[in-house]
Amino acid sequence: MEISFIGAGNLAWHLAPALENAGHHINEVYSRQLQHARQLVSNLYDAHTHSELNFADSPSTLFVLAVPDDALEDVCSRLVLPEQATLVHTSGSKSLQSLEQWMDIYSDVPVKTGVFYALQTFTKGQPFMAFEEIPLCIESTDKATEDALVQLGQDVSNIVYLITSEERRTLHVAAVLACNFTNHLLALAHDLTTQNGLEFDLLRPLITETFRKGLAVNNPANVQTGPARRNDLTTISDHLALLANQPKLAEIYQILTDSIRQYYGR
Ligand SMILES: NC(=O)c1ccc[n+]([C@@H]2O[C@H](COP(=O)([O-])OP(=O)(O)OC[C@H]3O[C@@H](n4cnc5c(N)ncnc54)[C@H](OP(=O)(O)O)[C@@H]3O)[C@@H](O)[C@H]2O)c1
Repeated sequence: MEISFIGAGNLAWHLAPALENAGHHINEVYSRQLQHARQLVSNLYDAHTHSELNFADSPSTLFVLAVPDDALEDVCSRLVLPEQATLVHTSGSKSLQSLEQWMDIYSDVPVKTGVFYALQTFTKGQPFMAFEEIPLCIESTDKATEDALVQLGQDVSNIVYLITSEERRTLHVAAVLACNFTNHLLALAHDLTTQNGLEFDLLRPLITETFRKGLAVNNPANVQTGPARRNDLTTISDHLALLANQPKLAEIYQILTDSIRQYYGR
């Protein structure tokens, strides 16, 4: 497939090379700051940077929106696509209907639309991720487009699902809980240790075992430990006293403690 990317950030950094490795061809990469497009293009076979959102003369048939969710409508409003183009967004939370509406409003030519959402965390500059085990959530209201996107998905991944916008929204909230919030807690633990002259490395075996164990069982709730799970109220009070001069952190500690205690009927 002939493909162009709109956006050269975290997702594009990993998805564009994965599509090329699966035999597809990336023609163009657009980014507001051209050096970001240049960085991505330097990792691709013969893609070119594209400095504007006018793709009227593009040889591509598939256009991948890889910009932040909040920028999608603005980008769509300025996007010029060739005839017969398919436009997909890669967002966990934006509906397919929104994309369809924006194209109805803003595009001079009819555009086929879809969703190509990779359920993984991507960071630009990190080693390219193998896509085989990354779940891909596909959606389109047009059967031929859906089939083409499923085929494209199967070219890069063994885990391809048809997922509705509503299902994807729920998955995305679950992903934020499991990934983004967990990672933020790790960052807070990092700061607490290093600010007190302790090495974050001391926590590494604990973090590794927490993830190993949580993934080894059907339900991570079965292996929950800690003061809130044991209902050790004096330990909890002691921890909150230690955090007295960090009210935000104390608040997070209290909210999660309450959640764990309620979950186990305390
Ligand atoms: N990152 C992930 O882990 C992940 C996972 C799954 C799905 N996604 C989805 O992938 C999409 C992109 O996320 P990302 O993390 O790759 O974003 P990102 O790293 O912030 O990349 C943003 C790209 O979009 C461009 N951009 C930002 N604001 C823009 C605007 N107002 N107008 C035009 N271009 C703009 C940036 O241009 P400049 O380079 O010029 O700044 C950059 O090239 C989102 O829909 C997100 O939900 C992300």
